[in-house]
Amino acid sequence: MKKSWLHKVLCAGIVAGSMLSANAFAQQSLKMAYALAKDNSHFGAGAVAFDKSITESSQGKFTIEHFGNSALGGEREVIEGLQLGTIDAAILSTGAILNFVPQVGVFDIPFLLRDLDHGRKVLDSQIGQDMLKEFSKRGLVALAWGEQGFRHLTNNKVAVKEPADAKGLKIRTTENPVHIAAFKEIGILPTPMAWPEVQTALQQGTIDGQENPTSVIVAAKLNQQQKFLSLTAHVYAPAVIVISPSVYDSLSAEDKAKFNEAGKKAAQAMRDFVDNIEKTGIQSLKDAGMQVTEDVNREAFSALVKNVYPEYYKRFSKELIDSIAAAK
Ligand code: PAF
Repeated sequence: MKKSWLHKVLCAGIVAGSMLSANAFAQQSLKMAYALAKDNSHFGAGAVAFDKSITESSQGKFTIEHFGNSALGGEREVIEGLQLGTIDAAILSTGAILNFVPQVGVFDIPFLLRDLDHGRKVLDSQIGQDMLKEFSKRGLVALAWGEQGFRHLTNNKVAVKEPADAKGLKIRTTENPVHIAAFKEIGILPTPMAWPEVQTALQQGTIDGQENPTSVIVAAKLNQQQKFLSLTAHVYAPAVIVISPSVYDSLSAEDKAKFNEAGKKAAQAMRDFVDNIEKTGIQSLKDAGMQVTEDVNREAFSALVKNVYPEYYKRFSKELIDSIAAAK
């Protein structure tokens, strides 16, 4: 009699204890989406760093399921998934973001950010940090600014050195009106298209080329479809580490801090990857047979794009654009 009473109490204790610890450690696997491969890209490097940081800091309470190579769709669909809560986290280029968070487009203005250092300083400054807060007004939570590098032009028809060489080329652009306005001014025929469609369009010749940073050209092996690379460095390309409010809003303050930290780790890993690929990428593309034009007349491209600046001033404010340009 005594034994069975004790036995019951012990059993109840074990069940209650295990329920408590199950709650405390309820494991949550989060779907993270990004456009390129996990193993050989700046997006993958960022996602792996994010994964490591959050898994370690939460002691396994949160883990990351990787959906690289646009496995959950193009960036527009991923952003919608984050808003709806069907996708938990993502690393995104700014290609499609300004269609959701319009102010972000100011960083997409060609020939505004001079070099990687300038881009990073602006994103780390109050301007960049305030911009992260804009995302929460649009049903998204932006944790940190990552990076892709400077975008260059590739195509299959001609070695582009001067704007006149690029005239009439059918170039895939992101779905980004700020970029599109600049390309039109150069005389390029911009063809906005989601990234997952680009390789097929290049193979089928429905477009002559595309523009992306060295990091993307190398990771996506665009040398297999494109003969000419021109180092136009026409625009700095940030990336952003985003999480769905349906995840973030349910976190404790302590867990939120862990996610913020994981975002910072991801951003740093992307910058480190870009630093390395900027040193080695162009040579590897040359070795793979691409014809690289290094002495692009950037002043001539920039002078044409400056004609679009009045339009950008209207869209974003001259004061903001000038303060970004002046950042040291
Ligand atoms: O060109 C694009 O769409 C983007 O730069 C990238 C990273 C390839 C896809 O997000």
